[in-house]
Amino acid sequence: MNYVLAIDQGTTSSRAILFDQDLRVVQVAQQEFPQHFPASGWVEHDPADLWATTVQTAREVLAQTGIDAAHLAAIGITNQRETTLVWDAETGVPLYNAIVWQDRRTADTCAALRDGGHEDLVRATTGLLLDPYFSATKVKWILDHCDGARDRAQAGKLRFGTVDSFLIWNLTQGRIHATDATNAARTMLYDIHKGDWSVEICGLLDIPMSMLPKVHDCAADFGVTDILGPEVPILGVAGDQQAATIGQACFQPGMMKSTYGTGCFALLNTGDMPVPSQNRLLTTIAYQLDGKPTYALEGSIFIAGAVVQWLRDGLGIIDKAAQTQALAEAADPAQDLVIVPAFTGLGAPYWQPDCRGAVFGLTRGSGPAEFARAALESVGFQTRDLLQAMQADWPVAARGTGQTTLRVDGGMAASDWTMQFLADILGAPVDRPGVLETTALGAAWLAGMRAGIYPDQDGFAATWARADQFEPQMKPSERDRRYARWQAAVAATIGVPS
Ligand code: G3P
Repeated sequence: MNYVLAIDQGTTSSRAILFDQDLRVVQVAQQEFPQHFPASGWVEHDPADLWATTVQTAREVLAQTGIDAAHLAAIGITNQRETTLVWDAETGVPLYNAIVWQDRRTADTCAALRDGGHEDLVRATTGLLLDPYFSATKVKWILDHCDGARDRAQAGKLRFGTVDSFLIWNLTQGRIHATDATNAARTMLYDIHKGDWSVEICGLLDIPMSMLPKVHDCAADFGVTDILGPEVPILGVAGDQQAATIGQACFQPGMMKSTYGTGCFALLNTGDMPVPSQNRLLTTIAYQLDGKPTYALEGSIFIAGAVVQWLRDGLGIIDKAAQTQALAEAADPAQDLVIVPAFTGLGAPYWQPDCRGAVFGLTRGSGPAEFARAALESVGFQTRDLLQAMQADWPVAARGTGQTTLRVDGGMAASDWTMQFLADILGAPVDRPGVLETTALGAAWLAGMRAGIYPDQDGFAATWARADQFEPQMKPSERDRRYARWQAAVAATIGVPS
């Protein structure tokens, strides 16, 4: 029997998921690790935690099943994207903590670059916006703030990587410094049209190109590791949202997935066409196979599942996320509470890093049930913002079969109530697959396909199975009224100075 190990190194936890020869999940191990907030708007991870939890969960999943690493055909890696590490090329020791994608410390650098007239270059080359979200200004920050870093970088003594590169480097004991095209596309240093690092942008940010990893296809040879005992090849790598797009088999132009984790990330496959956005979405690489990139439009929302965490940890009105469903069902239909969860600003399509959250429509009768319902609804409203922007950017998405169908996954996709509201507010069907581990599945398929034990792209797409479909039931007039209220709430939130 052959197995594939998927490593999913995420923002709040590391997971190891073992898949069997038939692409079924055999076992999952998961470990959370601490988040560090050294200053307002700063978010860091200790690189040692990322590495230790990755190795421990990988070992744990094998120990739990009694499966020897000799039976692993391959390892696939998927990861939180954009999070930035710089380490010493000789010792592998990181210079600084990993600066997490949510970190806003480089907002001023981005503003200065914008004022300097560089946004068009960044957009045209990388498909991204000039925002602290991406890796480039985080690398610059490390080089500017760590003693002697720039000189060491210029002397070729430092390496930069997103989390996939950092793990590959450590798994191969410093032999391989590599990444894949989807992770490279999130650095704001990669030319998504030429398929190479941008000399111009690296020059603009004073980032020596010797620091950068070699960029491969998503299914490629990323070296071998003996960290689990016998040598196992690493054959698949993709950023987590791209891995979910693959796991959802969104292989045809016009297909779209939305993953509900801490945040929400929607990707629309636009085929071999990098569609420029007029609506502040991102143009990015969905996956790259056989040297051929497939592009996507992406909408990133920073707060989705995190709004439920806030109900639990901030307000203390629930003990477990699953309680929100019963509360939402019990909410007073006559109340119209709207929560704009701009806890760390707003992402696509607004990109307002400085605004903060707001609640509208409070009455003396507003209680936990109304807050829970409004929190779940905020996720649906934000998804509609993205879908509308996508349809405006690429009308093909709205044509197709006449309606866009959204494939959903991630923790919140398990909530029937939330998915029904999503279908209602989108006015479009929502498809939920049987396997909700789509991110890990995508990484496992890339690696197992490359190893020759899993089917090719068409064969894999044929295995995708829908478990549930949510059809819109809300009256169009009610849908329009509710959405207009949301839009007014967002406009008012942005209008309030923070
Ligand atoms: O772009 C950030 C994204 O990749 C993080 O995903 O699932 O770790 O919150 P997640």
